[in-house]
Amino acid sequence: MGIVRAMRYDTPGPQAAQPIGVFDSGVGGLTVLRALTRVLPREDFLYLGDTARLPYGAKSPASVSRYALQCARVLVDQGIKLLVVACNTASSVALPALREAFPGLPVLGVVQPGARAACERTRAGRIAVIATESTVQGGAYHKAIQRIRPDAEIRSRACPLFVALAEEGWIDGPLVEGVVGEYLQPLFREFGSHGPDSLVLGCTHFPVLAAPISRVAGPDVAVIDSAATTAAQVADYLERTGLCKAEKSQPKTSEGGVHFMATDGASRFARVAGIFLGRELTPDHVQIVDL
Ligand code: DGL
Repeated sequence: MGIVRAMRYDTPGPQAAQPIGVFDSGVGGLTVLRALTRVLPREDFLYLGDTARLPYGAKSPASVSRYALQCARVLVDQGIKLLVVACNTASSVALPALREAFPGLPVLGVVQPGARAACERTRAGRIAVIATESTVQGGAYHKAIQRIRPDAEIRSRACPLFVALAEEGWIDGPLVEGVVGEYLQPLFREFGSHGPDSLVLGCTHFPVLAAPISRVAGPDVAVIDSAATTAAQVADYLERTGLCKAEKSQPKTSEGGVHFMATDGASRFARVAGIFLGRELTPDHVQIVDL
């Protein structure tokens, strides 16, 4: 794997009033943002989708690490107190480089929470993982799951078309279900007659396809999304470190806000993000930034 050496940026210690930075290659990380805003309604968020360079899943680890560092830099320059890498591909390869580059900044990824959720939900330890090509090749989920549950039987498959479908806002219907079947059926056959008992959505774009995925997987397979576990881990971290914007015991005075940024295509981002977040977003809500 290519190691990307990053410049070191000395960030001042995080403050409770600062926003939380979240990034992904595109709109996928919004599934994590949605879970974060549910669990932490008073917090402010900066969301960056690197839409100009999507998909990350087909790029080399060195390129993904470089992109991740550039995304983080944009967010750090705006004064964030914590960084959530809402992309499994970047979480798989770039966490060490990010922590080295921004030593004062807490950085949390999505692979570890996803692996933990899978180990909590599986009964027989037969775990199927679907993710991007890069995440599957790097084996990040294998390693993370096996550290918690060494006896697990894990099989994985890259499903790159799911990213394209999600970015297109094409999240259900016969065509989508057909694509889901093409990917899942051979993967499930690898488990033999019993099949897997759980399926990890190892890419943050995939939860919007959860309905067709669950239908194809069938009722005996638990479909696992790391968004809720990641949000719970972020909430726990803020609480332990005294970095929550407002204490839980205080009366709720104001809702936090989200500032959206993308590296290309404000209209497209707004249209699809609206589907992901279940509310209307216009292109004026999306700031285009250059990395
Ligand atoms: N959403 C990203 C992930 O979780 C990557 C999708 C892509 O850009 O290929 O892996």
